Amino acid sequence: MIAIALDGPAGAGKSTVCQAVAKQLGIIHVDTGALYRAVGVYALRRGVDTADWPGVIALLPDIHVSLRFTGEGQRIYLDGEDVSQAIRQPEASMAASNVSAIPQVRDFLLDLQRDLARRGSVIMDGRDIGTVVLPDADVKIFLTASPQVRAARRYNELKEKGHDVEYEAILAEVRERDYNDSHRAAAPLRKAPDAWVCDTTDMDLAESVRLIIEHIKERMGS
Ligand code: DC
Repeated sequence: MIAIALDGPAGAGKSTVCQAVAKQLGIIHVDTGALYRAVGVYALRRGVDTADWPGVIALLPDIHVSLRFTGEGQRIYLDGEDVSQAIRQPEASMAASNVSAIPQVRDFLLDLQRDLARRGSVIMDGRDIGTVVLPDADVKIFLTASPQVRAARRYNELKEKGHDVEYEAILAEVRERDYNDSHRAAAPLRKAPDAWVCDTTDMDLAESVRLIIEHIKERMGS
């Protein structure tokens, strides 16, 4: 069994890199951001402002979130409904960022995440995996890139999907989410002291994946 923790800011390419690494190593990729997005979507659907902490906390006992892993990756369910698409809508990003600042929400999702790592080999991505969720992970990676490059990647991705977007607006959103994620009191985005930093500012996906696999193999002594 192996547990790999991969953290980093929004848009660093965590999901894409993890999917490729998981496939090559034959392990499961757990995208923990999806859990916060699901809580955010649940609150939006119930008409609760995601910045209203007591309002969101009051919903927690009613939220049933679960993950399933398929050959094509992770699917996420709210009360048995597949919300894998819904959590990718733009409004879900800010909702997730808001609810992820609430300590009770983080506690609510903690056991679920730890349980997944207990059941099999995983590469888990998020913001606090190496620091809080899996502090004893075998390998810890902090994946990052400059805000400009992360915004440009997001811009190209949205353009390709036919969305009418502006680079400056996306860059502003990237900076805002970075600020929110790293300045909240509960489990802020922070590099674990023993994490290896992989800066992909000047790298493409293939090169990032190759370097990360090399690092994992080195750490595992094979
Ligand atoms: O990685 P993402 O964009 O899907 O994450 C959505 C939000 O959830 C993001 O604002 C940060 C938060 N998050 C978190 O606080 N802790 C995690 N382990 C994963 C995500």
